[in-house]
Order: sequence, then C-alpha cells, then structure tokens
Amino acid sequence: MRLDYLTIFPDYLAPLQLSLPGKAAAGGLIELHVHDLRAWTHDRHRTVDDTPYGGGAGMVMKPEPFGEAFADLGLAAGTAREHTTIIFTTPSGEPLTQELAHELSTRERIVFACGRYEGIDQRVIDHAAELAEVREISLGDYVLNGGEVAALAITEAVVRLIPGFMGNADSIVEESHAAQSGGLLEYPVYTKPASWQGRDVPDVLLSGDHGRIAAWRRQQQLERTAVRRPDLLHPAAAATEWEIVPAVRADAGELMTLMRACWVQEAIEADDLGVPALHETYEQVVEGILTWDTYAVRTAGRLVGSVRGRLAPPPEGEGQMWDIGRLCVAPDLQGRGLGRLLLEHIMRVTPAQATSYSLFTGVHSARNQRFYKKAGFRLRPDLPAPPKAVVMTRRR
Ligand code: ADE
Repeated sequence: MRLDYLTIFPDYLAPLQLSLPGKAAAGGLIELHVHDLRAWTHDRHRTVDDTPYGGGAGMVMKPEPFGEAFADLGLAAGTAREHTTIIFTTPSGEPLTQELAHELSTRERIVFACGRYEGIDQRVIDHAAELAEVREISLGDYVLNGGEVAALAITEAVVRLIPGFMGNADSIVEESHAAQSGGLLEYPVYTKPASWQGRDVPDVLLSGDHGRIAAWRRQQQLERTAVRRPDLLHPAAAATEWEIVPAVRADAGELMTLMRACWVQEAIEADDLGVPALHETYEQVVEGILTWDTYAVRTAGRLVGSVRGRLAPPPEGEGQMWDIGRLCVAPDLQGRGLGRLLLEHIMRVTPAQATSYSLFTGVHSARNQRFYKKAGFRLRPDLPAPPKAVVMTRRR
C-alpha cells in the first residue's frame, strides 16, 4: 500500500517513521510519502488559506495547492478510482470505525488531505471525487486543531490490518475493539505480580478453570460495555426508563424464552435443574399469563422483564396473601434496578384484601434472598415451600 500525506505541518507526521507504520515501511509492506502542501504554492508567503466567501470566522484552505498536488501525485480522472482513496480528515466526516479501517486496508493507495483552519474549499473535495474514491473521516465528536493527528490514527488503524503486517494474525482477530469482540468492549487484563500495592489479581484468573475464566471475562465485557458504551448493546440496554404494562397472551413465547434465560442461569449457579419455572410448557406459560396478573417490560420492542401476582388462599393463621412470582430480568440488563422496579410495581397493584406479600425463591440463591430482604421480606421456614425453595413474606 502506498500512503501520501498532504499537510502544512510535515513534521507533525514524523511519528509515522516510528512505531507500527515505520516497521511496515521498513519491511516493504507500505510506502510512506509526506508532502508539504506549501510546495504547491507560488507566492512569496506560500499562502495556503484565504478568507471565506459569505463571511464568517477563520480561514479556508485554498483549492489550488491541493489541485496541483493531486496532479503531481499522479491522480488523474478515471485512472485511480478502483484502488485509490483520498481521505479528508475533518470533524464533519464519518466516524473512524474498525469496520472502516478494514475496508481501507484493502486499498492499494491512500492519499490523506489534512485540513487546518475552518476546512478545505469544498471544490477540492468535489474534484477529488472525480479522481478517486473520497472519504471524509472524523476521529470523533471533538475538534482538533488540524487533521494530522487523525491521519496518524487512521494510518495506524489501517496499516496493522494489512495482511502480513503483524507476525501473528491471531492477535488481530482476538484483540479488542468492540467490532472484533462480538460488539463488546474488551475485559480488563492483568499480569504478574499477583499482588501489587495491595491490589490483587481477581482469584478467578489464578484458578486455572478456563470455563470460569471465560464466564468472568464475558461478564466484565458486558458490565463495561453497559456502563461505558450502552449504545453498543441492544438499544434496550441504553434505556433508563422502563414502562411496565400488563402482559398479554401474545407475550407468552417471548416470556418463556426470557424465563428460560433467567432460570437456567439460576439452575447453573445452584447446580439444580429442578427450578419449577424451567419446567413449564408453553401452554402453562400462556395459562400463567391468563390466571395471574402478569406484567411485562418492553424496551425497543424487546421483552426484557416480567413479574406476576395473584391472591392466594391464606395459609393457617395468616391473612390474605398476595403471591408474587416469576420476577425476571434479561441477563444483560440485570443490576440496573429493573428487578426492584418490577417488585415495587407488583406490590403497588396488590388488591385491597391482601394483608401481606408472599413469594418463594431458591433456598441456595443468596443473591435473590438478599434482594428480597432489602425490600423488607423475611424468610419463613415455617411456611410450606416447593422443593429446594424457601418462602419469604412481608406485611403490607
Ligand atoms: N480535524 C479537526 N478535528 C478533527 C476530528 N475530530 N477528526 C478528524 N479530523 C479533524
């Protein structure tokens, strides 16, 4: 690949000779040519900018130096289009993504036109589009003083993807970024020593248990992504407000899927497949919706949470109870308060005659029990419960 840079600050691009692109150049994989745009000016002051037509602040880069530079670089109409891309670095461009970097890594030639000031005369860009493929690319939603840093970043992202560049192709495949990690940010990494300044490497990484390590890393990825880049997750993950609505019969299929997702996780943790919710048939799920007051939360069209309640015949010596059950939240949205919201909701809609709330959860599910205790429930070993479950109640 041949890379050309048109800039009024050639020194700014000196780092190209170091680092990864420098290595690739030394290895003959790429050719780097940095050009001082002022070489294509003809006045005493080597002027590259002028005031904007129509007024406004700042200066605009003149078209003539770019036009002459393109011609001298051999870019002529109809010759370079298939294999050459001219990149204009600008905050108004399309964002640089890993996908775009991959696309650019297939080009034979890339010419960077680094903008400064308020930008480049639009006719330069229109003209370039007749010579080659044109991409206007932004590093992100912030304004730099010029496009040189962006050109460096794009170069590094692209060059390392050229086949034969990194000795080990796997290290590219395995590595971050989200576009390469199933849409998630990378998990945190650690190396020796195992303890440093009172900070220990998480035990799981020292366990040698590859299954647990993989599960831990996946969880870290999900948590990081949810906090730092919720936009990368399903749109539901970016939601901060939830609307709880009565479930209808048509929700049964999705509800069954959601419940399976939630209770399989619990079954794995408890090493017990006996969880009743896991054994419901589709017909029973439908019946559940019709015979319980069942509620659902949908976000971006996706069913992400549910809970249900119904009046139960009171056990000996107890008043009328509001039975709460099947409280579940999609695995990727847990830990964001949705479970708590569903519980509050189902308690809010309790009929007048109920004097207390009742539910059951896994006898080994410390997390669930903690959750309900925090909501004011207490364990009731004195009340009958399904196998391996424990009843918890709370006065109204
Ligand atoms: N030039 C100035 N700001 C820029 C940005 N964010 N991306 C690319 N080029 C730029």
